[in-house]
Formats: sequence, C-alpha cells, structure tokens
Amino acid sequence: MRSVRFHEYGSPEVLIVDEVPDPEPGEGQLLVRVSAAGISYAETQIRSGLMQQFAWFPDPPLPYAPGFEVAGTVVRVGPGVGDEWVGRKVVGAAPTAGGYSELAVLPAGAAQPIPDGLGEHEALALFGQGVVAVGVAEVAAIQPKDVVLVQAAAGGVGSLLVQLAKNAGAEVIALARGEKKLALARELGADHVVDYTEEGWEQRVRDVAPAGVQVAFDGVGGEVSKASFDLLAMGFGRLVVYGTAGGTAPQFDPEMLYVRGVSVSGFGPRVFLQPEYGARLRQTAFDLAAAGTLKPVVGQVFPLAEAAAAHRAFEERTTLGKAVLVP
Ligand SMILES: NC(=O)c1ccc[n+]([C@@H]2O[C@H](COP(=O)([O-])OP(=O)(O)OC[C@H]3O[C@@H](n4cnc5c(N)ncnc54)[C@H](OP(=O)(O)O)[C@@H]3O)[C@@H](O)[C@H]2O)c1
Repeated sequence: MRSVRFHEYGSPEVLIVDEVPDPEPGEGQLLVRVSAAGISYAETQIRSGLMQQFAWFPDPPLPYAPGFEVAGTVVRVGPGVGDEWVGRKVVGAAPTAGGYSELAVLPAGAAQPIPDGLGEHEALALFGQGVVAVGVAEVAAIQPKDVVLVQAAAGGVGSLLVQLAKNAGAEVIALARGEKKLALARELGADHVVDYTEEGWEQRVRDVAPAGVQVAFDGVGGEVSKASFDLLAMGFGRLVVYGTAGGTAPQFDPEMLYVRGVSVSGFGPRVFLQPEYGARLRQTAFDLAAAGTLKPVVGQVFPLAEAAAAHRAFEERTTLGKAVLVP
C-alpha cells in the first residue's frame, strides 16, 4: 500500500509516499481502508523535530509514518474482535500513527462508528480538535456574558471554540490573521474580529472590552500569550493554555497572578492518562454536531501525494478549520 513517511526530521518536503507492506490487524484490532486522515498542527511539529522537547513525546523511530486520526471503512478484524465491525464506517486514533496511508490499523477500543448524519471529514474535524475545544471550554467554565478571546479563531480548535463560547452566551472576540480567516470567524458567530498580526491589535481588543476579557484561549503561545494574559479582566480573567502554534512557550508575568487576581490553567495529556475523560469530551462534540449547534469546518482536502503541501499550508498559516488527506 501507499503510505506517507519521513526518513529524517525536517521541512515538509521530507514527507514522501513510500510503498510498504499492508498492515495486519493484531489482537483486538481493526484493519481500516482509509477514506481520509486528519492533519493536525502537532504533526507538523513532530515532522520538524520540535516535539522532541517534550518528555511525554519520546522521539519516534525513523522512518516515521505520521497520521493519528483516521476515518474509513473496516475491511478486516483481528483475533478477539467481532465480525460485526466489518463494513462499518469508523473514526479513530492510530496509537503508533501511520494514518496518512491507504490502510491503517486501529485498536477496536480506540475507534468509534461515525454517527449517522456526520460525514467522514466532519468526524475527523471533531475527533481530535473537538476533544480539545470541548475540554478547553470546560476548563474555562464560560459564564453567560463573559467576554471571550479566541486565538487562531479560524483554525481547527479555534473555529470550534468560537462556536462553543457563543453557545455558552459569551461575547466573542476572535483573533486571526488575514481577511479570509476573520470572515470565517464572523460567519461562525464571533461578535468582533481582530487581526492580531497588525500593530496595535491589543488596543482594538481594549476598545471593545475596556474592563478586559474574562476568558482567553491560548493555542499560539509566545508574545500572543503574553498580550492575552495582559488583557485579562482584573479579578476574574482566566487564561487557558492548550498549544504553542507560534513555536515559543507562553509568556506572562507570574507575579501578576495574585497582583491582578487572574488565573492560568492548561489542557493537555489528561485525555491520554484518563481515556474515559477524552471519550466523554469527544461524545459531547459529536452530540453537539448532531444537534446542529457545533459546525465542524473542513477547509481543505489534499490528496495523499500532496502531504508536503498540506504541512506547508499549516506552516504558512493558510489552513481554515480542519485539513484532511485523502488516499
Ligand atoms: N493540548 C492538546 O491536547 C492539543 C491537542 C491538539 C492540538 N493542540 C494545539 O492546539 C493548537 C491548534 O491546533 P490546530 O490543529 O487546531 O491548528 P490550527 O489552529 O488549525 O492551526 C494553527 C494556527 O495557529 C496560528 N498561528 C499563529 N502563529 C503561528 C505560526 N508562527 N505558525 C503557524 N501558525 C501560527 C495560525 O492561525 P492564524 O494565521 O490565524 O494566526 C494557524 O492557522 C496547536 O498549538 C496545537 O499544537 C493541543
């Protein structure tokens, strides 16, 4: 089968299509004919070698086949799995990656049938980023009338956060780069949109929220993180950190935590440490989509052979919502 792999860490061009043996489903596993694989920002960081800084993500052996999120049809099952799985459309997580391929192996316990009414690409848009968005929104405990700042608001997680915050009754300020992304954030319900790559963007946020924001969702890190922290409302503000798409760690002055009475919390590996927690968040995302109150955004579909272009799009910040690869 064809499988996208890289043999060295580096720029998107290290992603190439290799011919490899078909995988075999082992005990408790499903063999899935992949109809689409999700691409996430973290995978671009694995490819470039950036994840090696995190102790919880050990260096994967090379060659490495990326792709954690898979949607497709079960074609065969391994020992210990019922035949009723065969023919089902499922979405799931490949624990050792390899999803950018024609076939992938998923543990039956890490796969779930795609609910009726949800397309495979939409299921992928919710599978990982939906978990993060619902989890991050829960951590923030958004109250009606809170002013909520969403970074990278047209991204995979951000596009869902805008909607979750609106559903909770908040006033949403969406931060994104460029008119196309700002237009999408507006379409998803943002009350205000601000291009945070323009000089003086913080003042534009203050103009609409003079007392500051009650919640800021931080998936970018670095200076954007610091500015968002400084925009928190005295006594009430909560910054929830969940990623560093900008490539540098969040920055803020910890002394201000008590001086200004604000808080910072994080969202991350608990979903792996406590699978039932992740499963609950995912089910919530799927239920909200089924009820029509959360719209997964699939902005671009790339053929397998263009995996490098897909990763480049992430690095050039041109993706909208979820990006998927199709074999
Ligand atoms: N904590 C967790 O469990 C978890 C799980 C999955 C993902 N994440 C993190 O969540 C964040 C969002 O993930 P996602 O998959 O939904 O990605 P995404 O938001 O679709 O893409 C990343 C976005 O970050 C923004 N960005 C700002 N500075 C950037 C830079 N220097 N280079 C590239 N992009 C930059 C871009 O939007 P603008 O152009 O509008 O700024 C870009 O579109 C990432 O940091 C990811 O690592 C965390």
